Amino acid sequence: MDGNYTLEGILILLRHGDRGPLSHIRNISSVNCAMSSYTSIRAYSNFLQNISKSPGFSQFLGPFHNFPLLPANECALGQLTLVGVSQLHKLGHVLRMVYGDKLGIGNGSLTNEDIVVYSTRYRRTFQSTLAFLYTFLAPEDLQRIVLKESQSLAFCFNDCVCPAAETYRKIFTVESSEYLNSHPAVMKLVKFVTSIVFEMPHETLASNPHSLHDALLTYICHNSPLPCLSSAGDQDLCVRAEHVTSLFTYIDWESRQYLKSHNLRKSCLLRAYGLLRNIVSFILHMVSEKKPRIVLYSGHDKTIQYLTFALGISDGITPHYASRLIFELYRKKGKPKKDSPLAREYYFRIVFNGKDLTNQVNFCRNSVVQYIPEKVPTVTMKNSSVPKKQSSYLCPIESVVRFLHDDYFHIFNTTNFKDSCLVRDSQ
Ligand SMILES: *[C@@H]1O[C@H](CO)[C@@H](O)[C@H](O)[C@H]1NC(C)=O
Ligand SMILES: *[C@@H]1O[C@H](CO)[C@@H](O)[C@H](O)[C@H]1NC(C)=O
Ligand SMILES: *[C@@H]1O[C@H](CO)[C@@H](O)[C@H](O)[C@H]1NC(C)=O
Ligand SMILES: *[C@@H]1O[C@H](CO)[C@@H](O)[C@H](O)[C@H]1NC(C)=O
Repeated sequence: MDGNYTLEGILILLRHGDRGPLSHIRNISSVNCAMSSYTSIRAYSNFLQNISKSPGFSQFLGPFHNFPLLPANECALGQLTLVGVSQLHKLGHVLRMVYGDKLGIGNGSLTNEDIVVYSTRYRRTFQSTLAFLYTFLAPEDLQRIVLKESQSLAFCFNDCVCPAAETYRKIFTVESSEYLNSHPAVMKLVKFVTSIVFEMPHETLASNPHSLHDALLTYICHNSPLPCLSSAGDQDLCVRAEHVTSLFTYIDWESRQYLKSHNLRKSCLLRAYGLLRNIVSFILHMVSEKKPRIVLYSGHDKTIQYLTFALGISDGITPHYASRLIFELYRKKGKPKKDSPLAREYYFRIVFNGKDLTNQVNFCRNSVVQYIPEKVPTVTMKNSSVPKKQSSYLCPIESVVRFLHDDYFHIFNTTNFKDSCLVRDSQ
């Protein structure tokens, strides 16, 4: 337990693991997306074969019952790879070590009301969910869940229809094309590399460094040589490491500029609203009912980006494969004050890929309490000094409730989602 607070529940937003590219790239069959000696994949595959015979398993799969449980060996367009599976195995394992005992995983106390799991209807997110749960939960806990489907990659539930979100997004796209236009050398490089990487380097790809970034990851994440194109001349045209470095440096820079865009922020606020409402409603449920204890949203880079932009904690950069944004809910120990609302005793923390971002959330900045976790995970290394106790921040849940109910739509000069979503002529 952490000092004066106990962990009551967690909500996890997950990005799927490593996948194949989203557009056809040249020579994809020569990239090895499987792993040469990953024996635990075999154990996992055996486990799946075994468990899929048990009667409860098709109930567990719910709407995903006809999906393949494991990806194929090769790099397929938009599909999870075995590298991706192993990323989720590792992540599940690490989070189990961090949260397992505190949340009662594997001690036989979890019921189907304690865990809620949503995944989008893509093979890669479903298979990531399964791989994650395999190491995060105990096998007996796994069969207690029923997977649920989110129809939207924003997990917007009842608050999805929003024409203005698209309008703001389009304005942002026009705005952001200026970044590339003002870097003619990068533009030239994008055109050149695109013509080598893609099988069909059409116009929209040729001007999009982000698609190129996505495609190049297929080679880089699997230790594959960068591609070449045999040309009529005496020298082959090849993508070189320094091209990749320049491109990636540029993309990082461009992505950081996005933080300045009000239109992107607005678009993300509208896209993330349904999800944040869902999160807050689960948090309030955890407070009043003590359940669920674990909520998982298995989604995409955009799922995480919408929310981090809306909360003001994004650094602009696309979250890498198997990224996770975690809300931890804490209760202050001791008897609550008389006549004080129960919710006053509760706080949350936001951790993105292991980094505490709570103090950066706009609406938390003035209300955080600082605390020192009692047990710092100690890494014992020779000659290392005693690890410094790191202080951490907790934000009262009242702050997020107030943000959602009172302040969320200020930027739109409205008081509700519906009005904010109307497209007005002035836009
Ligand atoms: C297969 O499932 C049975 C029960 O369903 C279990 O007892 C056994 O240990 C499982 N074997 C493996 C290899 O997971
Ligand atoms: C399991 O762990 C949870 C959380 O630590 C605890 O509340 C519960 O009493 C434990 N149940 C059993 C059966 O040990
Ligand atoms: C494509 O792969 C083949 C072998 O699989 C190799 O000989 C060829 O050079 C590769 N071409 C490119 C463009 O990388
Ligand atoms: C906000 O809305 C009010 C009432 O609808 C209007 O009078 C005011 O001009 C608006 N302000 C801005 C900045 O749009």
